[in-house]
Amino acid sequence: MGPSCILRHVKNCSIRRGITPVLATLALVSSILVARSSDRSVAAATGKPSVNAAATYAQVAPILQARCASCHNPQGGAPFSLQNYEEAKQWSGQILEVTQSRYMPPWLPVPGKGEFSGERRLSDTELAAIRSWVGAGAPGTDESGTGGTPAQAPETTEWPLGRPDAVLTLPEPVALPGNGPDVFTNLVLPFPGNQLRSLRAIQIRPSDPQAVRGVLLSFDESGGLRQTDGWKQGIAGMEPPDSVTPTSAGLIFWTAASQALRPGAGENWTVKPGSNLLLTAHLKTTGKKAALQFQIGLYYETKAKSGSGRAAVLRLRHRGPIEIPAGTSSTELEDSYKLPEPVSITAIYPRAHFLARSFDAYATTPSGKQVWLLSIPKWDVDWVEVYQYRRPVMLPRGSVIHWKVSYDNSASNPHNPSDPPVAVHAGIGAADEADALLLEMEPSAGTNVAVWRKAIETAGK
Ligand code: HEC
Repeated sequence: MGPSCILRHVKNCSIRRGITPVLATLALVSSILVARSSDRSVAAATGKPSVNAAATYAQVAPILQARCASCHNPQGGAPFSLQNYEEAKQWSGQILEVTQSRYMPPWLPVPGKGEFSGERRLSDTELAAIRSWVGAGAPGTDESGTGGTPAQAPETTEWPLGRPDAVLTLPEPVALPGNGPDVFTNLVLPFPGNQLRSLRAIQIRPSDPQAVRGVLLSFDESGGLRQTDGWKQGIAGMEPPDSVTPTSAGLIFWTAASQALRPGAGENWTVKPGSNLLLTAHLKTTGKKAALQFQIGLYYETKAKSGSGRAAVLRLRHRGPIEIPAGTSSTELEDSYKLPEPVSITAIYPRAHFLARSFDAYATTPSGKQVWLLSIPKWDVDWVEVYQYRRPVMLPRGSVIHWKVSYDNSASNPHNPSDPPVAVHAGIGAADEADALLLEMEPSAGTNVAVWRKAIETAGK
């Protein structure tokens, strides 16, 4: 176990990187050594400094700033900062390891099968710069070998958008134990006031960002969740309760790396009096017992919007039973759905829990063209989020959406919540499985939105 293990979730320490860290690091280091000694001999032969000189901190700092600091800052979701030379140097060994294995920055979809905004994948050039810098002993930029340009700290103002029109808090904080498995809970926050309001932004501030992996936001329009027993303590589960159906608000997802959330062009975040904001939260323990609270800043439009927006969410669920026998390492579930209307898909949210190993989704158009929507070859429930397409994916009427999930319910799956493995069925708990695909979409121009929405939303039931 490396020193970084103390940071990890105890059960999963050392195994999450997906490769054997020691071997991988050794292999990398030896290739770096080879590269460096050949650089040196070139330099010696020509008498000129090598063009392939090792990267300096000045080259690596902008990479860390752009790709890591959104989480690795004092207020961020990661357990330590990577914002200046001292911090980068201190963590350089682990930085090499987790970047080359692509454990960091966390980003699950493979490139070329869906293009997403905010993609966190490092380029080969960035990986090479990190490799070269760490291989050279993580030198600084100035003569003393320390220093270098300090990276800019991100904005840390409490409310970067100004004072919110209203601030919601949980009726009761979440009691997080110091250690143990992640906590999945549906947190219900009643909207205040008795007026129809449209939101132009939502800012989320947990009391400890490190305890929050991700949050899906939905509107409980009927307010019915306040009838659920114990709602003030949160309703356990990895999915929103069935009574809350995704609406024209679209798929709204927050992580500690997110800025304020704002509705997309076709979305309408109008909330009726008496309704609730629902946070379907994936929380983790941080080593110390905590009472986790949230402050949710709401920013209102001056006038509530009429109409319902153009967006709709198609929720596709596996139609057959889900049965994953104990001890099996590759159960595959596959399903498809034919689009009754032409659509532009704006975001995708793949849903499976701990046992999933891979998740693929694509469409075939009536003319036989295959259009990839998403491919996650190494599923990790810790880092799944809503993925927004860089450009909407347009699909004609009659296109068929396929999705396929492979599950590993063997004892050798380090994420398996049961030890020894037990047979697993569909459900919303951490020991259950899911097989669903949520697609946020808009109709094509000229479509009657209400009719279209009904077709999409009922077809997905
Ligand atoms: C989206 C947020 C996010 C981004 C972006 C991110 N990290 Fe992390 N990082 C985390 C979190 C959270 C952890 C703690 C481990 C966990 O929760 O699984 C972590 C842990 C680590 C660790 C410790 C791993 C261990 O062995 O425990 C290293 C090293 C690291 N990150 C480096 C990086 C580097 C380098 C980058 C950029 C190239 C980066 N991270 C980008 C969130 C992030």
